Amino acid sequence: MFPDLTRDDVFRLETKRLWLRWPRASDAPAIAAFAALPQVAQMTANIPHPYPPKEADRFIFKARAENSGGKALHLAITRKSGARPVLGLVSAAASGEIEVEIGYALAPEAWGKGIATEALRTVIDTVFALTPAARILANSRAHNPASRRVLEKTGFVYVDSGLDSLPARGGLHPCDRFRLERADWRDAREARRLPPMAHQRLGAVDVPIADPAGELHEC
Ligand SMILES: CC(C)(COP(=O)(O)OP(=O)(O)OC[C@H]1O[C@@H](n2cnc3c(N)ncnc32)[C@H](O)[C@@H]1OP(=O)(O)O)[C@@H](O)C(=O)NCCC(=O)NCCS
Repeated sequence: MFPDLTRDDVFRLETKRLWLRWPRASDAPAIAAFAALPQVAQMTANIPHPYPPKEADRFIFKARAENSGGKALHLAITRKSGARPVLGLVSAAASGEIEVEIGYALAPEAWGKGIATEALRTVIDTVFALTPAARILANSRAHNPASRRVLEKTGFVYVDSGLDSLPARGGLHPCDRFRLERADWRDAREARRLPPMAHQRLGAVDVPIADPAGELHEC
């Protein structure tokens, strides 16, 4: 699913405040420090709790193997400035031929600052720019409003709710399912490219607007 570009560990993404790069062995203590917290692990499908010794090393090894195999893109999130310890993880994993499933978790001290949203936006752009994925899927536990909000802010659409398997939690759990289609991502990206004046009230000024086909028109 993922191309040669992301399958090399020099690959990284840059946002206004963040670097997203392959996790490496030296990240294990920082990853374990937040992954071991119940308020982080319990919201995820794959982080075990209690967090076993060496689990972060195991995760890093597996993440790097899947990245180099092109099956997934697991990235560690760091700030661009300061000491730059890992403050979170974001993963995009192939789920069949044309779907990618996304997941993320941050250290609690990083919550509430827009970091998950900022990281997710660049991962979404990367998935659609570099892979043939037709859609990205996401799944949030029903009692996780912060995750739901991150998905809404990054363009995901709520699909439905139901009982889903969360391997590290054991059994089935109520979850909300979300989806972002390539066509919707493309339309939103075209809209973001419009000049700031275009966001003013239509009719008040003469500004170009985009039609659904993405062409510009005077109004
Ligand atoms: C979910 C998580 C990644 C969010 O990270 P974050 O960097 O705090 O997210 P952001 O700051 O980009 O956005 C969070 C949004 O949720 C909102 N939010 C937070 N807690 C909320 C709550 N209890 N109820 C409603 N909204 C809430 C915030 O106000 C913000 O929305 P806003 O920008 O409109 O104000 C983080 O809380 C986390 O790692 N949680 C544990 C692991 C997890 O849940 N992973 C997701 C598994 S699906």
